[in-house]
Amino acid sequence: MAAIEVRPLDQGFGAEILGLDLSKSLSQEAFDIWNGAFEEHTVVILRDQDFTEAQHVAFSEKFGPLEVFTDPKDQARGFPTILRVSNVDRDTNEIKPVDDLGHKSFTLGTSDWHTDSSYKRVMSKASLLYGIEIPTRGGDTAFSNTAMAFAALPEKRREELKQIVVIHDFEATRRRFGLPPRSEEIRRKVPPVPQPLVSKLPDGREALLMGLHASHVENMPRKEGDALLSDLTAFATQPQFCYRHKWRKGDLVMWDNRCTLHRAMPYELEGERRLLHRTTIAGEGPLI
Ligand SMILES: [Fe+2]
Repeated sequence: MAAIEVRPLDQGFGAEILGLDLSKSLSQEAFDIWNGAFEEHTVVILRDQDFTEAQHVAFSEKFGPLEVFTDPKDQARGFPTILRVSNVDRDTNEIKPVDDLGHKSFTLGTSDWHTDSSYKRVMSKASLLYGIEIPTRGGDTAFSNTAMAFAALPEKRREELKQIVVIHDFEATRRRFGLPPRSEEIRRKVPPVPQPLVSKLPDGREALLMGLHASHVENMPRKEGDALLSDLTAFATQPQFCYRHKWRKGDLVMWDNRCTLHRAMPYELEGERRLLHRTTIAGEGPLI
C-alpha cells in the first residue's frame, strides 16, 4: 500500500487525504488514519475516487450505522442508505423541472446553511458525499466550522449560549419556503425535536448547532430567538470559519455534522446536471 498522507488545507480546518484508493478494500490501518483525520480536521477530501455504490456503503459503515432514506426515488437504485443529491430524475435520467415540489423542497433546503438531519431526535454524526456528475460552473459546497466559531466568542457569551435549547423542525423549514405540509404519517415520524444550541464533541470541543431546520429558541420570544439564531449564523459563516469545496468528478468529501454548517452554492438548475451520492452516519444518541 502506498503511504497515506494527510495534508491540511490552508483555511484553518479541513484536510486532503492522499494515497487512499477506495475501490480497494480498506485496511484497518488505513481506516484509522482516515478516521483520525476526520476527527481532527472536520472536513476531509479524497480526490480521484472511482468506487461502486456497494463500496460506498461498505466503507461508510465502518464509521457507524447509516441513516436510511425512506423515499425510493431519493435513493440510489437498490441502496436505501445512499441519498441521491441531484437535479436529475432517477427514472427518466432527465433534468427535473424546477417547479417539481419535491425537487424544490430539496433545492431550497440544501442551498441555505444547515446541518444534515438536525431535525431528527438522533442527529447525524457525519456525511460522505461523492461527486458523480458535476456542473461546469457553480454547485460548490460551502462549510462553516461552528466549533471554531464558538471558540472565538467571549467566554461570558459562550456560557450564556450553553443554557439555550433550540427546537428543530423540518415542517417549519417547509412552511418558511411556502411548501405544503407532508402527510400526517410522515410528520408523526419526524416531530419537532429539542437540540442544545451548543453541542459537545467527544474530544471536549463545543460547537454551535443551528441552521435552516432550527425553528425557534425554546422559552424565548420568537423575535428575540430568531435574531439570536440569525446573528450567530452570520457570525459562524464569516470567511475565517469557512471552507468552500469546488467539486471535481470523483471527489469524496466527508464532514462532521456535529460541528459544521454547510450549503450548496447555486448552479444552472435547468441547464447543468449535478449528481452526488451521500451516505450519512447516524449519531450515537439524542443530545438532550
Ligand atoms: Fe446537506
